[in-house]
Amino acid sequence: MTTLLHDIFEKSVDFLAQHDVFYGHGVQLAEDEVVLLLMHVLEVEFDELNLMYSHSIKTNQVDQIYQLLNRRVKQKIPMVYLVGFAIFAGLRFKVDERVLIPRSPFVELIDAGFKPWIDLESPARVMDLCTGSGCIGLAIAHYFKHATVDLVDLSHEALQLAQVNNEVLSLSQRVQCIESDLFDEIERNPSSLYDLIVANPPYVGEDEYQDLPAEYGHEPKLALVSNLQGMELPVKILMQAPDYLKEGGFLFLEVGYNDVVLSDCFPQVCFEWLEFELGGQGICFFSRADLLKYRVAFKEFLELHVA
Ligand SMILES: C[S@@+](CC[C@H](N)C(=O)[O-])C[C@H]1O[C@@H](n2cnc3c(N)ncnc32)[C@H](O)[C@@H]1O
Repeated sequence: MTTLLHDIFEKSVDFLAQHDVFYGHGVQLAEDEVVLLLMHVLEVEFDELNLMYSHSIKTNQVDQIYQLLNRRVKQKIPMVYLVGFAIFAGLRFKVDERVLIPRSPFVELIDAGFKPWIDLESPARVMDLCTGSGCIGLAIAHYFKHATVDLVDLSHEALQLAQVNNEVLSLSQRVQCIESDLFDEIERNPSSLYDLIVANPPYVGEDEYQDLPAEYGHEPKLALVSNLQGMELPVKILMQAPDYLKEGGFLFLEVGYNDVVLSDCFPQVCFEWLEFELGGQGICFFSRADLLKYRVAFKEFLELHVA
């Protein structure tokens, strides 16, 4: 038996709509999830899929689609984990439960080349701290051929996958993975300083974590949760980053919907929060000079709250 792809698409969207599933792990709509599912089962890219909606597909493919849809709704597994890949910044990344699903609004900054703060058309040293799948740092390396990028993460398992993505994208000549607890294993000499540090660290508080939709339970807790209402790791990054930046270098730090929490911790600090056209929030940026200016505040906060 064969079935029209168009009909399967409609039925799959209806099926998801009838169930209590949470979207937001890299895709926002049932339709987007079904597109990923069909690309996976039919083993085609997005453009090819678009040309196939009036075609018939095989019974075993229909069966596979329904099996995966059942796992999606019963086990609340995000679709990206079921299909094993995510699209980020127009690139395909291998993704599994070792890493957070790529969804950062950093994608818009990459698209804009981090202008006007950084000139990525010239040689630049970039660190993607808390890299997970490597999506942010690898997208920078892919689009900016003069950038050399260090992908840094505490999780050995996450870095294994980041390295796979590095190789799939053929970027290994300019991109290396470094296993490190924040900056602990990063060299600190004049020739190894960075022009740009990007960081999407864990920023969810333990209490908030308990209340998140079931889908988040499939992501590594290490990728989501940070002490002090989520603020410990972000503030440590704010305090330590200037030691690793060149004069004139910048830090871009994501704390998502906890932007207000971070701002409220430091009334004396002038946070500049970026706005995004495609959704998402909570990326601020600092020059090295401003990080040094506010360093005492970050240090005092950590001394007060972290044993
Ligand atoms: C929110 S995820 C971000 C992943 C990726 N950058 C993205 O945007 O999809 C945070 C990452 O930080 C890593 N991480 C957690 N604690 C860390 C630490 N102390 N030092 C370095 N990386 C850490 C986690 O393993 C996880 O991969």
